[in-house]
Amino acid sequence: RDPVAKSADLLEWYDRHARVLPWRAPPGSDARPDPYRVWLSEVMLQQTTVPAVKAYFHRFTLQWPTVQDLAAAEDADVMAAWAGLGYYARARNLLKCAREVAAMGQFPDTLEGLLALPGIGPYTAAAIAAIAFGRPETVVDGNVERVMARLHAVEEPLPAAKPALVRHARALTPATRPGDHAQAVMDLGATICTPRNPACGICPWWSPCAARDLGIAADLPRKLPK
Ligand code: ADE
Repeated sequence: RDPVAKSADLLEWYDRHARVLPWRAPPGSDARPDPYRVWLSEVMLQQTTVPAVKAYFHRFTLQWPTVQDLAAAEDADVMAAWAGLGYYARARNLLKCAREVAAMGQFPDTLEGLLALPGIGPYTAAAIAAIAFGRPETVVDGNVERVMARLHAVEEPLPAAKPALVRHARALTPATRPGDHAQAVMDLGATICTPRNPACGICPWWSPCAARDLGIAADLPRKLPK
């Protein structure tokens, strides 16, 4: 199947099985999620798991419902609310970023504009551009790398394989629903295409998956010993 058909199969799966997460628009809704909530969740998710982030996300958005509210917060209150998430440089950049965005009036809606903000690197910029603004950017995290390595049976070990995995991920990114596609690949990696014991039997990409076909899905991605 071609990339468009593959993405369509994945989106059909996502429409039925997407994880319900507080920063996502409700399942089946066509509404774009709030850029502030997407940004906040993606920064929190950079080094913290989805279950751990949920509680922090709820507290932050109750206390500071908009980026203007967060921009006006006392530094100490934000640092206290962040306590436990670790990586305090992230919390400082979070506030710096909120204040820049509040001064601009709204989040920039392009990859380049987002990359210029404090604490927003290529991953976060692509995630916000795709999820909040519907731009066809490709989001690549560890989950996506694993899914791509298996789908295309990339046997070259990480980190050398990274550029090839990014190319594969790009080739699959659809022009329509790029944000849902990005989140679908991440959900697939988190729930089905897991590091150990992948559940290939219920995977929407069972048929096109080269590693599944070769019987090596669980062995990929290979990694150079550190
Ligand atoms: N991990 C980081 N961001 C995510 C998202 N938006 N959906 C699922 N998993 C994620």
